[in-house]
Order: sequence, then structure tokens, then C-alpha cells
Amino acid sequence: MTQDELKALVGQAALQYVVPGEIVGVGTGSTVNKFIDALQSMKGNIKGAVSSSVASTERLKAIGVPVFDSNEVEEISVYIDCADEIDHRGFMIKGGGAALTREKIVAAQSKRFVCIADESKLVEVLGKFPVPVEVIPMATKRVMRQFAAMGGQAKLRMKDGSPLVTDNGQQILDVSGLAVRDPLAFENEVSQWPGVVTVGVFAHQKAAVCLLGTAAGVKTLSF
Ligand code: 5RP
Repeated sequence: MTQDELKALVGQAALQYVVPGEIVGVGTGSTVNKFIDALQSMKGNIKGAVSSSVASTERLKAIGVPVFDSNEVEEISVYIDCADEIDHRGFMIKGGGAALTREKIVAAQSKRFVCIADESKLVEVLGKFPVPVEVIPMATKRVMRQFAAMGGQAKLRMKDGSPLVTDNGQQILDVSGLAVRDPLAFENEVSQWPGVVTVGVFAHQKAAVCLLGTAAGVKTLSF
């Protein structure tokens, strides 16, 4: 199976976690796009969605799913999202699509995070994929130096020759060279650096379940 087919497989499998009559939390990325495609078949059975990005909002609206602002909703039963890396404890790196801040917000208001991923995303130690960090532009250089002091190389994410601007009007640093062996400690430390909006290590908002697309079918990992 191709990676695209594995993404479609887990996107479809995630439907079983969507609670009929309720609002579902929806992440961002190519795997989530497959989930949104699959969601079309049950859009009449859900109240709507809270979305984690402008891109997912547009996609949800295009298939006729009402999108609610996260402030209009209290608790969400399930949040479906993909990841750039997930380890055997359900800790993840996210933000490859630059939507990490809103993803963390929607994940935090959800009871259960269901991660959908193809098997290439499962790792022993987080950090081979550069850790995305959303920063306020004024603090970019300083935060880069702080990462250098811990052995990481931070690069400003670019788009069409200019720094990428997130849905929140901020910038993204991608930090390579880190082995994140203690995701909780890492998230706690980096989150309190001045100017950091969100670090793309999801330890507090880790997955409860991962639907992993493998050549042998969907494997369910519970954490
Ligand atoms: C977006 C994300 C995505 O979940 C992550 O990049 C994985 O995306 P894909 O399914 O396209 O591999 O964190 O900010």
C-alpha cells in the first residue's frame, strides 16, 4: 500500500470514534484531509466540528459540516488529528503543517485525542523530525540561541522566499538535532521561554489512541 492509501485507511477508521450527535475536534494535515473526506458519509449525524486551522475549516465547510469557534463549545469528546512523529507512549511531535497552536488548543478541550498516522510516524525517540515551535517574531533570534545552547539547530520556516506566517500571525522555528527523551520536561521548559507561543511537542496533550496504518491493516495502539 502507498503512504497515501495508508492515510486513507486510518482516516476512514477514525469514523468509529466520532460520537453521533456531538461536535468533533478536527486537526490539520494530509491524513486529516482523508478523515474529512470520510466524514462526509456521516455529516448528517454530527452537530459539527471545531477546527484547528483555516485550511481544515475551509475543507469542512466545503463538505457541509458546520464549524464552531472553540469559544462556543466547552468540552469536546473526541479530537482526531495526525502527527509528524508518535512514540510508544502516545507523545507526539506536531506542527509540520504550522497549525500546532490551534491543534494544542482543541486537543486541550477534548477528552480523548485519537491520532491517525501511517506507520512511518511511529518512533522510539521523538526528535528526528525537527520540532516546530511557534514564536512571536520579536523573540525569534533569542529563542534560536536558547535552542543552540541545548544542542539544537533552529531554522526559521520560510514560504515563497519570506518567513512563513501562521494562522495566528506568528513565525515557526524548526529545531533539528534534538532527542526528546523526556517529552513532558521538554514541553514544560520550552513553553515558558519568553516569546514561545507553542512548542510542537504534545506531551500534556498526548494521544489516548493511535490508529496506525500498516501494510497488514489498521493497528490500534492505546496509551
Ligand atoms: C499540522 C500537523 C500535522 O498533524 C502533521 O504535520 C502531520 O501531517 P500529515 O498527515 O500531512 O503527515 O501537526 O500542523
